[in-house]
This record gives sequence, structure tokens and C-alpha cells, in this order.
Amino acid sequence: MSVTVFLSEHGRALAASALVAVLALLIRRLRSAKRAHAGSNLNRSTNFKLGAVTAASASGARDAQREPGEWIPVQFDYPRVEPETADISTVKPIPYRPFRWGEYHVTMGIRSMPSNEWIEIDQQFFDYHKIVGYRIKTRGDRAVKINDAQPGIVGSGHAAAQEFVHELAEYLSQRYPALYQAVRKEKDTSGWYGQGEIKTITIIPLQETYDLDEQDPLIVASLLTQEDYTIMIEGTDGRYYLQAGAICIPGFWRLEDKLGMPLDEIHLTGNVPHYQSKLHLSMGRFFRRLPVDKPVVRNNYSFQVVRPPAPAADTDTGADALAAVDPTELAWSRTMHGSEDGAAFERSAVIRGTLAPSNQLAHAHVSPEGKDEKRERTKAPLDPQTVYLRTERQTLRRLPRTGGIVFTIRVYQTPVAQLAQEPGVPGRLASSVRGWSEEVAQYKDLFAYEDILEYLDKCHAEQAQTGLVKLDEQTSAYPM
Ligand code: HEM
Repeated sequence: MSVTVFLSEHGRALAASALVAVLALLIRRLRSAKRAHAGSNLNRSTNFKLGAVTAASASGARDAQREPGEWIPVQFDYPRVEPETADISTVKPIPYRPFRWGEYHVTMGIRSMPSNEWIEIDQQFFDYHKIVGYRIKTRGDRAVKINDAQPGIVGSGHAAAQEFVHELAEYLSQRYPALYQAVRKEKDTSGWYGQGEIKTITIIPLQETYDLDEQDPLIVASLLTQEDYTIMIEGTDGRYYLQAGAICIPGFWRLEDKLGMPLDEIHLTGNVPHYQSKLHLSMGRFFRRLPVDKPVVRNNYSFQVVRPPAPAADTDTGADALAAVDPTELAWSRTMHGSEDGAAFERSAVIRGTLAPSNQLAHAHVSPEGKDEKRERTKAPLDPQTVYLRTERQTLRRLPRTGGIVFTIRVYQTPVAQLAQEPGVPGRLASSVRGWSEEVAQYKDLFAYEDILEYLDKCHAEQAQTGLVKLDEQTSAYPM
């Protein structure tokens, strides 16, 4: 039986446009499958060849066309890196002071990053190197771990981690030639600017050599620099998942709690203030669109109370050995958060438990389970010498071949007593802290160190008295 269908002119036009739409969809799916195939081949390989990547605009113009979770490899030449010629032992840590006068506004706070400044190395490098080495030795995959694929959700972090360590070795050996020496493969052009791919990199003053083909890429990355790293991979739902991390100096969060999570869950489980209302949407959009040639940087700040460990108390947990390597609790804020090994680590539980009703810190010994065993409450006011400003410089950069996003976190610690001597800083810092919302104050544990506000006011008044600052002057060159 044959059925003849008569269509009006309008009907024919509709049918034609439906056909065109179906054909366009089919072509897109076909292209997508081809790319996914190319991507999966790339992911299987740990040895990338520049010749294998598709030439594409580094600005990510084709980004809108790709399916969530797929990446179109981009031919990208990292901009020329200027060598830093100063002797590293004379380079002081950059004095970031990322706080402003007045009310504190929660925003993404990102700025574009000059590609020369991706990774900063300074005279504290050797101290950080010791701490990181100790953390890797004692914490293993609780500090550094690459996740396998989560089927149907997101690919593994292995290929991006490999790509990343090569990018890092390229950058470091060119930026700090007195500190790092790279050895390249012969008859190969897959390194930067058509040079041979880097095989090994040596920290020259330490004579420590790392093999990029043989060693764990993120352990190598951690030992080479003063940074922590995470690698975020886009999932099939368009969200970014923490699929690899080298988190040796976190202070107050644990890789094991966050590995495998998407960005929003990472922040929501940490009760990051105003995340849902102010950050969630813009961050989702930003990550998906980040082009390979537009790296960004942001800074944050918080405070940390650091008390010397109770005498001879923690020998069995290794805490004394850690204190010898890391006396200011750079790696883990033990005074405020207790042991990081409790099964259900709860941020701030310890400092809340050890705080006297008069809002003054007690001297407490913290057991491995994170419980305070001994409380000697004291009425002594908080000594500003025990409070540190803890600032982070974070960068975000998209890797051209795998599309993974590298998040770098560099921590700087400065005693508040030292900051308070810097012209204009105590007044600005006190104003900024007073501008925190209730939620931010709670998140940053203000109750544990709010005594410093009075101290900062006093230092500010002294600076005004001596003419170092004017009382009504409220300027700053953020983030300095
Ligand atoms: C534009 C990118 C990002 C923005 C704007 C952002 C924002 C924030 C903010 C506002 C906080 C609270 C502390 C602070 O003041 O900084 C925070 C905490 C945190 N962020 Fe992000 N973040 C970004 C990217 C990332 C990425 C890529 C990761 C990957 C691991 C991450 C992991 C965390 C963690 C673990 C915390 C601590 C959470 C806790 O307290 O448990 N962030 N972030």
C-alpha cells in the first residue's frame, strides 16, 4: 500500500528545514566522534608529538562547537620566556598584600597573567623543597595522586599530568636557567619552539635529576617548584573535575576529600562563603571557555595561628620531625585544625575546641585523631608573633594538547608582627578584616585571632603619628 502525502508550500518548507537540521546534526555528531577518537588516541599516548596536533586558533574560537568533555588539540607556541638572571638566593618572596580598604566583596578576582610569570621561584625554594620532599615521603598518595577515568563522567588525569610536567620543565628551564637544566631527546621536535622533547631536568644547585618519562609527573612537578597543583578535566556534563593533584602544602584541606569531585562540589563541601550566589555560575562559564593563550592569576588571604608543638608529645606521629622541617606549619595548620589524619577531618573543629571563652587561645596538645587531650586555658592575650598572614597566589592555565586546566597554588606566610611595620599595611589589613561578612569571618576562623585587630589599629595609629601614613589615606596597589 502506498501513501501519498500532499504538503502545502509551507509544509514543504518546514520539511526541508527539518531535513537540513537533521543533516547538520549528523555531520556534527560525525565530526565529534572523529575528534573523540583522536582525543582518546592522544590520551593513551604519554609522549606527545607536536605534529599530531590539529592546527587551531589558540584563542579557542571553535570552543563553542565542541561537545562537553571533548577537547580539540590546539597548536600553541608558548610565548617566549625571558630568563630571570638574578641569583635565586637573593630573590625575596613577592610581598603580596591582597586586601583592600573597606567592605570585602566575594568575586572570582581573576586578572590576566603575563606568561613569563607562570611560576615564581625565590630564595625560599630550598626550604619548600625539603617540606615537599618530606610530605611526599610520609604521605604518599594522600599528597600526590592521579585519578583514573570515572566512566561516563570524566576521563583520567594521566595524559594531562604528563603534558603538564613537560610544559613545566620547558618553562622552568627557560625562565630560571641558573636553577634548572633540561636534557632533550635527539631527533625530536615535540618540545617548545620545535626543540626536542625534554627527557630529564636537573635542579642544578641540588644536583637532583628527574626523568620525565620514568617518574610520576606530579611528584616531579612538586619537587621542582614551590607550588601545589591540581589538574581539572572537563566531564561529559561540562563540569570540571579534580582528576589529579599534588597537594603538599594545603594548610587546611585534604586532597583525599576532594579528588574526583567537580569544582562546585569541592567548594560547597568546604562551605566556601557565598559560593552558590556569587561564584558558581561565573566559575562554570569561565572554566569551560578558558583559552590556552589567556592564563589568569588570583590572590587570596587568610590567617593562621601557629603554636610550637607540645614538648615531646608527638614523637610517635612524626609531628616533631615535621616541626623540624616545617616550623611555621606551612604544610598543615596543626594548631588550628589538629591532625590531618582523622577519619572525618572537620575544618576548624580543633581550634574551636581549644579556644577559651574569652576568645583567647589555649595551649593544647592535639592527638592523631584530632582531639585535644589537654587543655590549659590561658588568659594571656594572643601574641601577634604567633599569627601569620597566609596568602595564596593561584594561576589557571589550559593545556593545549589535552585541554586539562592546571591550577597552581603558591602559599606565602608572613608574621603579622612583620606586616604591621610596613607603611600603610596595618590600617588597610584591619579595615579589610572588618569588612568581612559574617559568613567569611566564620569561614576564616576570625574568632581565633581577632585580638590582632586591636594590635593593627595601634600600629596604624603609630604610623600616622610618625607621619609614615595619613590617617584618611586609603590607597593600595592591589595585590601588593
Ligand atoms: C577561578 C577559580 C576559582 C575561584 C574564584 C575560587 C574561589 C574560592 C574561594 C573564594 C575560596 C575560599 C577561600 C578564598 O578566599 O580563596 C576557595 C576555596 C577553595 N578552593 Fe577555590 N576557587 C577557584 C578555583 C579552584 C580550583 C581549580 C580548585 C581545585 C581544587 C579549588 C579548590 C578549592 C579548595 C579545596 C578550597 C578550600 C575549600 C575548603 O575550605 O574546604 N578552587 N575557592
